[in-house]
Amino acid sequence: MTEQNIAFTAHKRREPLHPDITEEMIRTLVHGFYDRIQSHDTLGPIFGREIQDWDEHLPKMCDFWSSVMLKTGRFKGKPMVAHMRLEGVSEQNFDEWLALWKQAADDFTTPGSAPFFYERAEMIAAGLKNGMFFDPAKLDPNN
Ligand code: HEM
Repeated sequence: MTEQNIAFTAHKRREPLHPDITEEMIRTLVHGFYDRIQSHDTLGPIFGREIQDWDEHLPKMCDFWSSVMLKTGRFKGKPMVAHMRLEGVSEQNFDEWLALWKQAADDFTTPGSAPFFYERAEMIAAGLKNGMFFDPAKLDPNN
């Protein structure tokens, strides 16, 4: 096997992004995070309005983070489509979401694994923000 093949196989391996990360940790983080979201000044009302059934949303979010952090492939949704149709959500709301996520990762994961949770959330949020808010007119220096 060539060196390139070995690197490719390692990348495809179903292993956690950090050895501390478990399904149980993800469940605790996701539930703790959305508890806080629900009482947040600006995010609370948005999620309260949009999420009809938390008993459906929370397991879906556990599947999502399991797919991202443990590469289990359990999540089958389409996050971009789900967010594109939201109304009344701003870029600032995404920054608030990320600040709350960072705090929750610090509180519910471990010092070694928390930065992996921040990094992945930032990457995914950047993609969602780009899809939802990118406006070429804002690149015009005269604006
Ligand atoms: C202010 C920021 C955000 C708001 C208001 C928001 C709101 C929502 C809402 C209302 C849904 C449910 C949509 C539906 O069931 O139709 C949803 C789904 C979801 N959100 Fe967010 N979200 C935000 C940021 C994020 C970020 C940063 C991530 C990932 C890092 C994320 C990941 C997801 C995923 C994976 C789903 C499930 C999508 C699916 O069912 O296909 N969200 N979000």
